[in-house]
Amino acid sequence: MNIAPSPTLAVDAKAKELKAAGEDVCGFGAGEPDFDTPEFIKEACVQALAEGKTKYAPAPGIPALREALAAKYRNQGIEGVTAAQCVVSPGGKYSCYLAILAVISPGDEVVIPAPYWVSYPEMVKLAGGVPKTIFAGQEVGFKVTPAQLREAITPKTRMVIINSPSNPTGAVYTAEELQALTEVALEAGIYIMSDEIYEYLLYDGVQHVSPASFSKEAAESVITVAGFSKTFSMTGWRLGTLMASPAIAKAVASLQSQTSSNATTFAQYGALAAMEQWDKSMAAVQGMLEVFDRRRICLLEGLQAIEGIECPRAQGAFYLFPNIEKLGLSAADFAARLLEDEKVAVVPGEGFGAPGYMRLSYATSDEVIKKGLERLARFCSKLG
Ligand SMILES: Cc1ncc(COP(=O)(O)O)c(C=O)c1O
Repeated sequence: MNIAPSPTLAVDAKAKELKAAGEDVCGFGAGEPDFDTPEFIKEACVQALAEGKTKYAPAPGIPALREALAAKYRNQGIEGVTAAQCVVSPGGKYSCYLAILAVISPGDEVVIPAPYWVSYPEMVKLAGGVPKTIFAGQEVGFKVTPAQLREAITPKTRMVIINSPSNPTGAVYTAEELQALTEVALEAGIYIMSDEIYEYLLYDGVQHVSPASFSKEAAESVITVAGFSKTFSMTGWRLGTLMASPAIAKAVASLQSQTSSNATTFAQYGALAAMEQWDKSMAAVQGMLEVFDRRRICLLEGLQAIEGIECPRAQGAFYLFPNIEKLGLSAADFAARLLEDEKVAVVPGEGFGAPGYMRLSYATSDEVIKKGLERLARFCSKLG
């Protein structure tokens, strides 16, 4: 099978290998928060285990969690969402895959704006589909236009993937921009997979908007993917969500019943606590956001001060995506040499459909960010 391994996990693995060998590595590769899961969420899971919640759960998730998810989406302005439209899966990644598998038949085209999250094209190919990328670079804030989307749509197009806030760029579409893209998709009669895994990780006062909230028609055509990993520092729990029309949610639940069966039962009780004690959850998220924001500014200013690097101010997720074309190396060579010479791990842009860029995650300590910036500046000055 011709499926590329995830390059983000590969860099992280290499950095961990060097660290294990005693090297002082500054890792900007990881796509996961460095905080622990909030205590009350862990306690709810431990209690579920103690109560014997150790058996299979219904394939689409425990009913209380699906109800809580439906309430969350109604609160976000998506009218009438029911628990039957919400599915809990073993990770946002798996939710994306289920969404793609549920609607893509062999030969169908899927429009993917680049820079994209590494797994989208591979998932489309696994479903027999054909990824069609459209590119938006730093000069346009990494955001594709409605005209670009319209042009990319052919009679074979079945879906467009929108990921805001974005991995790898941190870019966040405004409500107006999202609405314009949604209208193009609706006119063409294609699905939108809206990957909102970073929906709560926002800075500079920007707001998150779900395309499914724009109209009844949009709610029918948008498959909203999200999860607990990034928001609540629960990456290892493997808990994702999906919300779609009743017909698609049913198809997704069937797919899940034939593949993973269900997301881990006792883990779902931890997620339920996060949903039911929302004020506590948001207070925990706010605490993490303040730290992320401080690091974001520190990394941004440090990168912008290095000659040859151009770095836009990202307003979401926990990534910066600077352009390094002026430094004269391909991103892959740049990342390999940087790791070799200075023990700094970054993810080269090629895997995100964006050669000439690199992704740095600031989900790491202030100390690593400062030390990493010094090393990066030294490395770049030698190239210049
Ligand atoms: C854009 C995007 N979507 C989905 C995921 C999946 O997250 P998880 O499977 O950990 O819930 C990630 C994780 O890196 C991501 O960056």
